Amino acid sequence: MNQIISMKNVGKQYIIGEITIDALKDVSFTIDEGEFVIILGASGAGKTTLLNILGGMDSATSGNVMVGGENIRLYNDNQLTRYRRDKVGFVFQFYNLISNLNAFENVEFAAEVCKNHLDPREVLARVGLAERAQNFPPQLSGGEQQRVAIARAVAKNPLLLLCDEPTGALDYQTGKKVLSLLAEVNMTYHKTIVLITHNSLLSPIADKVIRVKSGQIESIEINPHRMDVKELEW
Ligand SMILES: Nc1ncnc2c1ncn2[C@@H]1O[C@H](COP(=O)(O)OP(=O)(O)OP(=O)(O)O)[C@@H](O)[C@H]1O
Ligand SMILES: [Mg+2]
Repeated sequence: MNQIISMKNVGKQYIIGEITIDALKDVSFTIDEGEFVIILGASGAGKTTLLNILGGMDSATSGNVMVGGENIRLYNDNQLTRYRRDKVGFVFQFYNLISNLNAFENVEFAAEVCKNHLDPREVLARVGLAERAQNFPPQLSGGEQQRVAIARAVAKNPLLLLCDEPTGALDYQTGKKVLSLLAEVNMTYHKTIVLITHNSLLSPIADKVIRVKSGQIESIEINPHRMDVKELEW
């Protein structure tokens, strides 16, 4: 397996006035190409901070953040912008679609700035929304909006797909469908996925589970045989 991510002794401090917050302390782990990874932890543990550093939306204060052989912690703003644009697909809890673009345009808009992007129409069909391409986000259900957001991230054909609580705003059944879709994207497009959740019951569906506690790695577990999302009850 090719290693795609290697974080080594990563620290992140936020300084607010006289107070220093250690959001991450001495965080080290690796992720292989094509792995489906879950980052687990309580609220405030540092999960989003970790994902934002991986996605080039925030930078680490110390340590090395190797992605695809490059230390992105040393990137300047221009390099980070390019990295976010070309290498990372993001899926957020509240979808973050552009409300005056329809479903197809949301996917196309994100894809067309990327060199090796996939066909937006084809990806939208893959997430089961070919028929809803002309609908605007407010005309779609939460689950449908999240599927558009996943299509938008996938169509960029990024190196990494980063998801911050993608089922956090969805009911149980819809959340399950979204997780199934992500597992399918991981398989069919061989995309490396890093997904944040605070729900430890989801851990069987991942290849690797990284537990974060108070800004530190608590444990890293590997599931030799990950569970099909459809078989999981939580
Ligand atoms: N921009 C920021 N400025 C100052 N402190 C921050 C900032 N972002 C995060 N923090 C702090 O860093 C710590 C980790 O926050 P983070 O958002 O990574 O937690 P989380 O695990 O994602 O929590 P949640 O499950 O609630 O989303 C918290 O104490 C938070 O208040
Ligand atoms: Mg968070």
